[in-house]
Amino acid sequence: MEKSTQGRMGQVPYPKSDESGVDDPVTEENTLHCLRENQLSLSIWDSGGKESELLPLNGSLIHPLLRPFLDRVINGDCEEILEQIPKNSVDAIVTSPPYYRQREYGSAAAAIGNEENLEDYLENLECVFRKCLEVLKPTGSLFVNLGDKYEEGSLLLVPYLFAHRLTQSTGAKLINLITWVKPNPEPRQYKRRLVSSTEPIFHFVKTNEYKYFYERFCSHRDIVRQRVKGGENIGKRYLELIEQSDLTEEQKRLARSEILQAIQEVKRGEIASFRVKIRGIHSEAYGGHEGGRKSHLRSKGFTIIRMYDRAIRRDVIECPILSLKSLKHPAVYPEYLVQELLKLTTQPGDVVLDPFLGSGTTAVVAKRMGRHYIGIEINHEYCEIANERLKNTDVNPDLVEFYL
Ligand SMILES: C[S@@+](CC[C@H](N)C(=O)[O-])C[C@H]1O[C@@H](n2cnc3c(N)ncnc32)[C@H](O)[C@@H]1O
Repeated sequence: MEKSTQGRMGQVPYPKSDESGVDDPVTEENTLHCLRENQLSLSIWDSGGKESELLPLNGSLIHPLLRPFLDRVINGDCEEILEQIPKNSVDAIVTSPPYYRQREYGSAAAAIGNEENLEDYLENLECVFRKCLEVLKPTGSLFVNLGDKYEEGSLLLVPYLFAHRLTQSTGAKLINLITWVKPNPEPRQYKRRLVSSTEPIFHFVKTNEYKYFYERFCSHRDIVRQRVKGGENIGKRYLELIEQSDLTEEQKRLARSEILQAIQEVKRGEIASFRVKIRGIHSEAYGGHEGGRKSHLRSKGFTIIRMYDRAIRRDVIECPILSLKSLKHPAVYPEYLVQELLKLTTQPGDVVLDPFLGSGTTAVVAKRMGRHYIGIEINHEYCEIANERLKNTDVNPDLVEFYL
């Protein structure tokens, strides 16, 4: 579907207004580049990142025609801008489009979200995300956070209709439906339904070759796990059992020394935990070959099993909604959310795009993590907010921000 210049599918065009942002003149002061001559309403800001800080750190290949877009906030309609971005050039897209009939983000005719019916909204989203998939590298990931909507007391299931439609029409693969769990939902009291406190984040890819750094996702959960296992009493029960066992004095001495060593390994975070099997107290493992643990148990009288296991990577991100009064944008998502998705699928120097940038959260996190960013936002005022946030963001890939 081609978007008409009068507005999107199903939208009554908004009258031009001085406040709309898209009709603002492109001033020399805030404009670094105009992508095409005579192109309406397209300005790109420099958001304060020093070139040297943002050069690829891991030698990622950057498409030469992508350079004018890098580390810029672009004021315009994402569908138009996406057409100018080279195909297969972006490493990750993390975004949250306007939800269906939830908010008014300004009066731009091309703004998405207030279509007259759901079908038109879904069609407009499909057009944008089809283009997102085109600019994504074959190794890239597309994350879409989308909320649902009640109509006449019934959920429309908008996010799932969208995800189904995109996979069906483009062949994109849906790797996960990650659930964002909000411990602090809006404090409303409905007598006839529960308060919604989750939102889906869809992880789409184009091929099976997508970059993936599984261990890095929500890695703080490993620390919590180790902390729980590494409490004061760790190994104490095993030391008592050794004393009660029928091991020789020499075997007991060796067992105490090896258990104390394993306790230190847990405390230093080198292993997650350990188990001890003691002859005459614990049963031998069934089956298996002779030797190894079985022979230890018989010859030494005990065996220690070290556990390096990490917390299971669950398809859940828990973090609170932010309400930053200083940010004059009604729907800011948490930086932590973006951080974990970028840890999972990108490396320093990679290019991260958000076609619905809003107040700039995706770009801010990408910059902090040493990734390049491209942000597109239709509302001029939100571009300025994003720009301001970016100016105040330093590149600091080692900064780990936890929410526990
Ligand atoms: C849900 S908000 C994104 C908020 C963002 N994640 C943040 O943390 O600030 C969606 C944004 O999409 C913008 N938008 C709507 N239609 C657009 C379009 N066609 N092109 C670019 N941006 C658009 C809106 O102005 C709004 O700021």
